[in-house]
Parts: sequence; structure tokens; C-alpha cells
Amino acid sequence: MKDQVIIVTGGSSGMGLYMAQRFFDEGAKIAITGRNLERLQKAKDQIAKGNEERMLLIEMDVRKIEDVERMVDETVEAFGRIDHLVNNAAGNFISPAEKLSANGWNSVINIVLNGTFYCSQTVGKYWIENNIKGSILNMVATYAWNAGAGVIHSASAKAGVLAMTRTLAVEWGAKYGIRVNAIAPGPIERTGGADKLFESEQAAKRTLQSVPLGRLGTPEEIAGLARFILSEEAAYMNGEVVTLDGGQWLNQFPF
Ligand code: HXC
Repeated sequence: MKDQVIIVTGGSSGMGLYMAQRFFDEGAKIAITGRNLERLQKAKDQIAKGNEERMLLIEMDVRKIEDVERMVDETVEAFGRIDHLVNNAAGNFISPAEKLSANGWNSVINIVLNGTFYCSQTVGKYWIENNIKGSILNMVATYAWNAGAGVIHSASAKAGVLAMTRTLAVEWGAKYGIRVNAIAPGPIERTGGADKLFESEQAAKRTLQSVPLGRLGTPEEIAGLARFILSEEAAYMNGEVVTLDGGQWLNQFPF
């Protein structure tokens, strides 16, 4: 990954932080984005440890196209190019479908579905104009194709992101050699998603019981898979979604 330029949206916490750390440790130049500058700065201290010239912080909201355009401009200005985009920024909360407000629905759809499109299209246009065969990695969830009871907004948005992954993989793969893939993580420790699932003891127990391997995944495991998908070793992988969930989504009838 040496000298590869990688944007990780939502890179100041959770899986985004660990992916940025792994890419950085392997010599990449990293731009991390987030809505809170203080959190971005904290992430930089943790990741860069004195090698700050390989790290860029971009305070922005993926829901705002003008912020996304600035993200691309600032990254190119700082590092000269962009090689990969990781659409990791997400928003989610647990709510019964019948109680979800229109604003709650819109908020998650705007972050996950619209934000992923704005970032992909803006970076994609830059690649097409500059003849760069970049690659995009999207973060989905197994409920993109399965049921997401309690998170209908996130499930609907992630299903859209999965369709976007496959559509762009074909459209841009054929014309420009741009690869687009996705990871579907299960419950991963030290992330906002796991915190939400572990709010009650009962939900925590149910989650652990649902995973055949009997444990949560780690953000380091997600980062290792992400590293592989972006690397030359996965140069023939396009339009794929790789599940990393300990077998959870297959576990329909736990015995
Ligand atoms: C019901 C809620 C709610 C909750 C927010 N809302 N939280 N409704 N239960 N827990 C409603 C609000 O009442 C409001 O509607 C609307 O959603 C927008 O809320 P805001 O706080 O104004 O939105 P905003 O500041 O844009 O924040 C977006 C957010 C927030 C998604 C609501 O949680 C966020 O920024 N999250 C980012 C981090 C995150 O969620 N990470 C986890 C990703 S995990 P009204 O009608 O009142 O105006 C993941 C997979 C995990 O994606 C899977 C397991 C759960």
C-alpha cells in the first residue's frame, strides 16, 4: 500500500479508524473524514504518531455534495492523486418501523445511501477525467439482502449501496477499469454498531448466541480484509460482497 492515496469516510472511529490505521501502517497516505474535528484530531494522534505528512483530516458531512467536492479537491491538493475510496461513514439507530419518524428515516438514508453515492460519483468523475483505475470499497451489512428487523432505514439504505456496488462495478469496470466491492461485517467489537447492539444485556446475549463462532469480530479483522480487497492481490475482484460475520447470517435455526 506504500504511497497509495486512500480516503476513508467516517475514519475517526470504529471500523473506519482501524482501516485507516492498517493502511497507514503499510505506508499509504490517508485522508479521513468526519463531522467532528476534535475526533478527527484524536484519530490522527493515534494513527500517525509523528508521521503527520501522510495524513489529512477533512471535516465534512457526506450528506452535503459541496463538502464531498471539497473532500476530493483537498485530497488531490495534499497528496497529488486519489487511488481508493472507502465509503465507511454510516448512521444507524434501533427503532421499530412503525415508530420511525420521517426525519429519522431521511437522516439514515441521506448518510448511508445518498452519502455513498455523492462520494462515489465525485471521486469516480475525478478518476475518469484523469484516467486512473481506482477502486471503491463500500461497507454494507448482511441485512442488505436479509431482513433488518429494527433497522429498516439502515437495511433499505445498505440494500441500495449493495445495488450501487454491483451497478458501478459493471458500468465503470467495463469502461474505465474501476473496481467496486463491498464488505458485509457482522457484529464487530469496538464499533458504534456493537455499542448499540450491546445496550441491553438481553440483546448482547442474543447477538453472541446468533454467531456460530461465538464471539464478535474484531475491527482488525475487517481492516485486514479491506486491505486485501484494495490490494493488487484482489485485482480481479469486482462487484463482490465479502461477508465477515462468523457465519451469523446463515444461522437460521440455532440448535
Ligand atoms: C428514534 C431517533 C433516534 C433513536 C435519532 N432519531 N436517534 N429516533 N430512536 N435512537 C431521530 C431523531 O429523533 C430525528 O427525528 C432524526 O432521527 C434525526 O436525528 P438527528 O439527531 O437530528 O440526526 P443527525 O444529527 O443527522 O444524526 C444522524 C443519526 C446519528 C444517524 C441519527 O445517530 C448519527 O449521526 N450516527 C452516526 C454514527 C452511527 O450511528 N454509527 C453506527 C453505524 S452502525 P425527529 O423526527 O425527532 O426530528 C451501522 C450498523 C450497525 O451502520 C447495525 C446494528 C444496529
